Amino acid sequence: MKEQFKISSIPENGCKGLSVKHGMDEIKVIIVRQGTEIYAYQNTCPHTGVNLDWIPDQFLDISGKLIQCSTHGALFQITDGYCISGPCAGQNLRPLKLNIKGEGFEIDFS
Ligand code: FES
Repeated sequence: MKEQFKISSIPENGCKGLSVKHGMDEIKVIIVRQGTEIYAYQNTCPHTGVNLDWIPDQFLDISGKLIQCSTHGALFQITDGYCISGPCAGQNLRPLKLNIKGEGFEIDFS
């Protein structure tokens, strides 16, 4: 059974970290909401494999337009997770598929 989350739980033009059960594993996920669009990535930096956030739910840089890794400052595009700056430039966050259902969404790991 997939976990359902409310879209309204993600701040508009903001982000949130979630822990999602996937089989026996607990997967940490970044959700970013920009206008009517929602993006999801695995919360794992391609540089060293650590989570991107030091402070819960803080994934965006000061401009609010890029995802930032708190360890070494890599910057990723929100729309596709592509790293434009930092030690893992040219690599990508792992995107996750979302199924939007009405006011909610679930993360599809298939
Ligand atoms: S661990 Fe993310 S930039 Fe180094």
